[in-house]
Amino acid sequence: VITRKFFIGGNHKLHGNKESLTTLIKSLNNATFPSEDIVELVISPPIIYLETAQSLIGPRIQVAAQNCYSESKGAFTGEISAEMVKDLGCQWVILGHSERRRVFGESSAVIAKKIEHAMQVGLSVIFCIGELLVDREANKTESILAEQLSDIVKSVPDWRRLVIAYEPVWAIGTGVVATPKQTQDAHQFIRKWLATNVSEQVAKETRIIYGGSVNATNCVDLSKETDVDGFLLGFAALVADDFTTIVSYA
Ligand code: G3P
Repeated sequence: VITRKFFIGGNHKLHGNKESLTTLIKSLNNATFPSEDIVELVISPPIIYLETAQSLIGPRIQVAAQNCYSESKGAFTGEISAEMVKDLGCQWVILGHSERRRVFGESSAVIAKKIEHAMQVGLSVIFCIGELLVDREANKTESILAEQLSDIVKSVPDWRRLVIAYEPVWAIGTGVVATPKQTQDAHQFIRKWLATNVSEQVAKETRIIYGGSVNATNCVDLSKETDVDGFLLGFAALVADDFTTIVSYA
């Protein structure tokens, strides 16, 4: 029997400042969490505060960058490399988030290159996929997920260091959370896809987490679904009490 360790990530997006991040981290450092064998914890502040986060956070929580580029160095004004993220002691990066895809126009090809490079450098990756509302209404959820997975499948050197976050775009920041059944169906589809297109082993071991309007109440039922291995939180990650409560259901 393979047991997948629950995973809770907090994506701060473009929120906070040094002071609020320091306050948040102090609260998290003082909180009591279930043991490390049960749940893995990651927070992802804006990149400019990664070093602050890394220096303040206790050993229980890891730090993720919200993005990084696919090249090590060069004439790429405004970018940061996976090597730099690693250099600060961070272990994770979020890639393929719908905001990167849609607001910043990142293509699947770019995301695939970023995943490959970040993993080669030694980072672990939270890879986000999810359908738009129009896709869901047109019954295209599964084909969209399959397409987003196919786009990167050849670019993953180590599946043990990849967490897949299912984030339906219509649920992100809207207060409209996917139902437990919608979530379970999508996660089950992703796992079957992995079994067919990668391997049974990878399908069994890969953590598939859910993101999109998760809060300290709706997380209870969502976390009971067989194929839900954790959450990627947005707004709830900015409030220490919410984060801690959600982790307690792991
Ligand atoms: O990456 C997490 C995210 O997109 C979910 O955001 O604010 O809906 O929890 P939120």
